[in-house]
Amino acid sequence: MSATRFWVAGQRRSAAEAFEVRSPFDGRLVGTVARPDDVDVEDALVAAVRAAPVCAALPAHVRAGALSSVSRAIARRGDEIASLITSESGKPLTWARAEVARASSTFRWGAEEARRFAGDLDRLDTDPTGEGRIALTRRFPIGPVLGITPFNFPLNLVAHKVAPAIAAGAPILVKPAPRTPLSALLLGELLADTDLPEGAWSVLPVADDRMPALVADPRLPVVSFTGSGQVGWAIRDAVPRKHVVLELGGNAAVLIAADYSSPVDLRHAARRIALFSNYQAGQSCVAVQRVFVDRSLFGRARKEIVTAVLELRGGDPADPATDVGPLIDTAAAERVAAWVAEAVARGATVLCGGTRQGTAFAPTVLTGVPRDAAVVREEVFGPVLVLEPVDGLDDGLARVNDSSYGLQAGVFTHDLATAFRAHRTLAVGGVIIGDVPSYRADQMPYGGVKGSGLGREGVSSAMADLTVERVMVLAGVEL
Ligand code: SIN
Repeated sequence: MSATRFWVAGQRRSAAEAFEVRSPFDGRLVGTVARPDDVDVEDALVAAVRAAPVCAALPAHVRAGALSSVSRAIARRGDEIASLITSESGKPLTWARAEVARASSTFRWGAEEARRFAGDLDRLDTDPTGEGRIALTRRFPIGPVLGITPFNFPLNLVAHKVAPAIAAGAPILVKPAPRTPLSALLLGELLADTDLPEGAWSVLPVADDRMPALVADPRLPVVSFTGSGQVGWAIRDAVPRKHVVLELGGNAAVLIAADYSSPVDLRHAARRIALFSNYQAGQSCVAVQRVFVDRSLFGRARKEIVTAVLELRGGDPADPATDVGPLIDTAAAERVAAWVAEAVARGATVLCGGTRQGTAFAPTVLTGVPRDAAVVREEVFGPVLVLEPVDGLDDGLARVNDSSYGLQAGVFTHDLATAFRAHRTLAVGGVIIGDVPSYRADQMPYGGVKGSGLGREGVSSAMADLTVERVMVLAGVEL
């Protein structure tokens, strides 16, 4: 098998060194990938710097045209890409297909936002000193972007770096996750079919230990990182003067409020909770991890949730009937097992699951877990949910907020006042009413507070994050 080549300034390149990508499900060799060396990285950097003014000046229709073409190509090659995502990440095919559809939508939104990206006009004659003046405020790219992406959405989280950069007119160097570089490299094929200028994008599957030098490089004034809190905050601390965007983890919570009490309601909530605690084996920053249920409903909700979890099918991620696949590697599954064991040793009850087989961890429901146990406090990133009763809305909202993270939360209620109260009270980046926190539409602002990160993605929010406002005042204007 010849090594998949990487992309420097829109051109394919090979290298002497290569590394293997293996299926997390059965260890099968999925591909080998050529590893860029220092010269490749330097070439990509120089080309990005050279391309910066060219990209910033590209007409909107050229940016939008390139983005639309990538969106269409992703859809056209959807089956092939979904199968690649499944092979390299172990994500069940159903979810890989969903990711492909979302990536196509992310690029489509990029095209739309590129056309809308105009600016704001403010009249300044609101005070005597501003008579005869107006201000035009436009956003301009800060400069070339370093985008660092994780393994759990190997296509769409790359799309969330690339599409806004192209739409805003900023060159980008993408560094994909070492375990899942193939989807990002395939995306390179689609980008290479566009008319984007040389240097507008590179995909560099360099080893993690090369990252500190790239992060520190002054030619990359923006670092946009999605991944673990430990790495993300270390980046932030390493380059305090750079513009750093961090999409980090969470221990997302759901609250089932007292009014969500009919059998149909509870079954609906239970099925959504079960599915989205276990989708991608829990390896999503907004997977359901903590579930708080009004005490009046707790017994019924527990029964429904455990039943719904037991209905999920584990197995080969390539089988379209599989709901829950493997974790990314054995070390991840062992960590989850250790955290569950810690909770049990401290008095937690296992309602179902709790066992590991290789890289697979059985969908697990725990209750009676101490609040400072790792499965509550940390991001599990595995198929584990912790279910606890709460005493009314105030207690429920406080329990959701009792976290060092704050990405998204879900509240099952039909009550508008409860919805507004949750929106106002919860310290998170997004509150989903009537559903789990795992809902994300790719155009909406997405990001966290507290330990969950800095800045927002979602195409237009990310474009704002990659650019800076510059005002032009026109004097002597007849208003
Ligand atoms: C994430 O895990 O951070 C992304 C979740 C998503 O895009 O649905």
